[in-house]
Amino acid sequence: MKVSEAILLRKSVRQFLKDPVPNSLLRSLLEQASRSPSGGNLQPWHIYVINETSMKDFLSFQDSWKEPEVPAYEIYPHKLKEPYRTYRYELGEEMYSLLGIPREDKDARVNQVLKNFTFFGAPAAIFCFIDKSMGPPQWSDLGMFLQTFMLLAKEAGIDTCAQEAWSMKHNSVSKFVEAEEGDMLFCGMAIGYSDDNAMVNSLISERRSIEDWAKFL
Ligand SMILES: Cc1cc2nc3c(=O)[nH]c(=O)nc-3n(C[C@H](O)[C@H](O)[C@H](O)COP(=O)(O)O)c2cc1C
Repeated sequence: MKVSEAILLRKSVRQFLKDPVPNSLLRSLLEQASRSPSGGNLQPWHIYVINETSMKDFLSFQDSWKEPEVPAYEIYPHKLKEPYRTYRYELGEEMYSLLGIPREDKDARVNQVLKNFTFFGAPAAIFCFIDKSMGPPQWSDLGMFLQTFMLLAKEAGIDTCAQEAWSMKHNSVSKFVEAEEGDMLFCGMAIGYSDDNAMVNSLISERRSIEDWAKFL
């Protein structure tokens, strides 16, 4: 598969089949993804793989976790500016309309968001942590690593969904994976095979036209 094909085919999948993904494949994809560039070659990503038994253990651990959690960070700026606010809103509306969930059905919307915390049924997942002392440049390195991983996964026929939602469960996730002291959770990622019969997976998110964000001087 060409890189350009992997880029076109990758999309966020939000309902997975139960078919397993072997750890040997995940290891190989992670090793390849580590060729991603990072400023000063810091390679600031710390990855924990949850799969097979650890997935079962993790999900039941999450079920039993009762302590309130402090989010690792604020996912979006408190007052999200335009046009970003609209882009976010449109994505939500497209997704909920595919799922047949009207705006007034708050419970159904919340339930859909909560599916993040079972990885949308994916059999495998990763958590990506970073040392708290790192700043925006190193956070952007995580993005490069994660996108490289997602494209390699696509090449291997595997689907993914990056999940910042897990930052709301920083405490419990850190405890389960025994994260290094001083590390914070950036995101999780659901990994598996897309359930192509699920309406939610027919979502092809919009992109702004190049005129909106690039200037040729
Ligand atoms: C770092 C990151 C975190 C994300 N977090 C979530 C999330 O918590 N839950 C979710 O459903 N989608 C999440 N997404 C998926 C985005 O909504 C998605 O990438 C965007 O709408 C573009 O759609 P596409 O990935 O299908 O191209 C995340 C994406 C990125 C890159």
